[in-house]
Amino acid sequence: MHLIVLLCFFLNLLDPAEVLNPKRKRFFQKNVEATTPAFANETAGTRCSPAPKLRFQPVFEGPTNDRQKAVVRAFQHAWMGYKKYAWGHDELKPVSKSYENPFELGLTIVDSLDTAVIMGLKTETREAIDWIRDSLDVSPDRSVNLFETTIRVLGGLLSGYHLTGEAILLKKAKILGDNLLFAFTKSKSPIPKSDVNLQSGSAFSPNQGLSSLSEATTLQLEFRDLAILTGNSTYENVAFGASEHIHKIGCKQTGGLCPYFIDDNGNLKSTDITLGARADSYYEYLLKQWLQTKKSIDWLRDDFLESVNSIREILYRSSASSSLKFIGEVQTSGEFYPKMDHLVCFFAGTLVLSHQNGLDTKQGDHLEMAKQLGHVCHKMYENPTGLGPEIAHFNMETSSEEDIYSLDSHSLLRPEAIEAWFYLYRATNDKKYQEWGWSAFEAIEKYAKVETGGYSSIDNVFKIKVKRRSIDTSAG
Ligand SMILES: *[C@@H]1O[C@H](CO)[C@@H](O)[C@H](O)[C@H]1NC(C)=O
Ligand SMILES: *[C@@H]1O[C@H](CO)[C@@H](O)[C@H](O)[C@H]1NC(C)=O
Repeated sequence: MHLIVLLCFFLNLLDPAEVLNPKRKRFFQKNVEATTPAFANETAGTRCSPAPKLRFQPVFEGPTNDRQKAVVRAFQHAWMGYKKYAWGHDELKPVSKSYENPFELGLTIVDSLDTAVIMGLKTETREAIDWIRDSLDVSPDRSVNLFETTIRVLGGLLSGYHLTGEAILLKKAKILGDNLLFAFTKSKSPIPKSDVNLQSGSAFSPNQGLSSLSEATTLQLEFRDLAILTGNSTYENVAFGASEHIHKIGCKQTGGLCPYFIDDNGNLKSTDITLGARADSYYEYLLKQWLQTKKSIDWLRDDFLESVNSIREILYRSSASSSLKFIGEVQTSGEFYPKMDHLVCFFAGTLVLSHQNGLDTKQGDHLEMAKQLGHVCHKMYENPTGLGPEIAHFNMETSSEEDIYSLDSHSLLRPEAIEAWFYLYRATNDKKYQEWGWSAFEAIEKYAKVETGGYSSIDNVFKIKVKRRSIDTSAG
């Protein structure tokens, strides 16, 4: 996810009135109704129905308080740097004032469009849509990662379409979807190849034929949405095949917790069990797919609940000194390893969502666990810079006073902790979550902002004399 997406969470986190804003509520209801026709309707032979006509107007009419204004200014500061030094390329390198272009898909423009719309930034929205219409080629002779391209470009085009109704966005999403489908059709199993050439359709998995579990199972929301909007169920069926495959082979030995590598014959490889890198959004998409299909596919819910129970039993532990609860990992030897990636903070938000959809009555309190995780993610940010490290380790020895230490102390300005506090604030109305988000925002402004435009990663969150890393903030 991109920094600009992170800023969108900040903005929402800082708007106390929004939950009660009837206009906003109507917008979401309308959106949900319009985009979720009868799924799983086996009698009709398709899970999809023809494209609904969408014409949504942005509902946010500009910032109303100082914090919101600061967040919108931060978006504009990032946009300004990108426009000056990287326009049309994938990403700005703010320190060296240059760019990277590995996908040739204008990642930053497509990925930021929905944030610009939600922030009510008409000029930036116009610039983005004009560029997509006139200059975005979704069939470049480039091999791209299926997962990254799906969540950032396909997802960006589709969310932009939902928010603006601009037909060109759906048109390009469909062409891109067709190009990406080759990653599935060139595979012998329902698990897609990890990379695909968008022009020739050749597909391969460069890492010894392996894909990450999360890569194969974090495509379905986007492809299902494309199926709904185009009225063509192929997109949904093909992508959903990967989820169905994982469900069928199951991960029973570890109570629904899966290893993080899978080969393109569809076999899981024995690895550590983690909720962090390479596994994380498998769990998130179980829940969100269940919601997207109007709670009609029971096994999505059941697999999700089974994994939450196992996470609670196997991975959820306390540090020795202050009993901070966190989610660790299990090594292939079976030994518990008290390491938590920053990425794992996403799970607090997922648990709030499951709580709000009534999934924690029989299975233990999901909101309570979400609060504990939101808390530990905040603790990870209690550093001299006010930013959290990429990976935290927890002390399990009573002899030590310290709860958290880190061997990977850089920060890529990832959004997961902010997102967690955003969900928690919405669910509890507890203003401490707004304050935590605001502190993180101020830290980014202080240490990551590059005067000439954009924001950079940080070398070491424990050192006040920060060294900026001349890469941008993109991070899956
Ligand atoms: C399935 O589709 C048919 C034909 O459109 C419709 O009559 C029926 O009510 C639908 N069933 C469900 C369960 O949505
Ligand atoms: C649905 O999309 C697939 C993939 O592009 C295509 O092969 C198929 O012909 C389409 N089906 C219809 C009915 O348009």
